[in-house]
Amino acid sequence: MDLGIRGRKAIVNGGSAGMGRASALALAREGVELVVSARGGERLVRACREIAGETGTAVTPVAADHSTADGMARILDACPDPDILVGTCSPPRIEGELSAVTRQQWIDTLGISLLGPIDFMQAVMGGMAERGWGRIVNIATVAAKFPTEPRVISGAPRAALANYTVGIAKKAARRGVVINNVLPGMVRTDSALERYGAIGKAEGTSADEEIAKAARKLRIPVGGFGDPDQVGALVAFLCSAHAGYLVGQNIVVDGGLTTATF
Ligand SMILES: NC(=O)c1ccc[n+]([C@@H]2O[C@H](COP(=O)([O-])OP(=O)(O)OC[C@H]3O[C@@H](n4cnc5c(N)ncnc54)[C@H](OP(=O)(O)O)[C@@H]3O)[C@@H](O)[C@H]2O)c1
Repeated sequence: MDLGIRGRKAIVNGGSAGMGRASALALAREGVELVVSARGGERLVRACREIAGETGTAVTPVAADHSTADGMARILDACPDPDILVGTCSPPRIEGELSAVTRQQWIDTLGISLLGPIDFMQAVMGGMAERGWGRIVNIATVAAKFPTEPRVISGAPRAALANYTVGIAKKAARRGVVINNVLPGMVRTDSALERYGAIGKAEGTSADEEIAKAARKLRIPVGGFGDPDQVGALVAFLCSAHAGYLVGQNIVVDGGLTTATF
């Protein structure tokens, strides 16, 4: 299916790895010109080169933390009038007990996973509305909708982000700007490989063995972790010409791990 977005311009924040990278690739395959940001320059430049090489699309890297004012300014300098904004970050983690999480850790997490995305949406939405077309997708977490104690630090700020985006989605939609969130469950991304690789190292196993163990323990109905490209394809669809009637939704993509009628 042609997604009808060839020649559009997109910013993908957090696009050097994992689901952000997969989303950037899916958009580039549709002929969308990209500005991709991440903090680490080397991995970012490599990802942009690979995506441009595979798709023949213009992909510009900007090494920046998109949750800071300076980072946001540099990304917007590279793409002042995006048609599409996709945003994500690495999963915020608790090491140890929830009670050991400091106030400063909460403040940092809120900055990266809630306030940064809000600032960025605010910065681009006006231009999209003036031009009468826009798509915004935040890749958040299933823990926003289905809280569990180990993921409270990840879920709570993104529950607030979901609340915020749904709250502003109606007014934006009246001017052609469609905002939705994707809430992924367990996905075999770079951060997951790093995390389960570290467990495997301690256990004398591999990341893949630990991921398979975790999938069995969690009883994920489809039988394993998701592939980042499955999330990337969904994000690209939500950015497409066909998604104009899908407004203010939080779409869970987790292999059936959680289910709810609504
Ligand atoms: N993987 C899972 O199983 C899973 C499960 C549930 C929810 N999620 C959620 O899905 C989202 C994406 O996860 P992922 O596994 O794809 O992450 P990932 O593999 O760690 O990739 C995250 C990307 O964001 C970049 N990034 C992180 N913080 C940034 C910042 N402040 N400014 C700019 N770039 C930043 C990273 O590059 P740099 O580090 O170089 O900046 C990287 O490109 C997260 O919000 C996570 O909570 C993931």
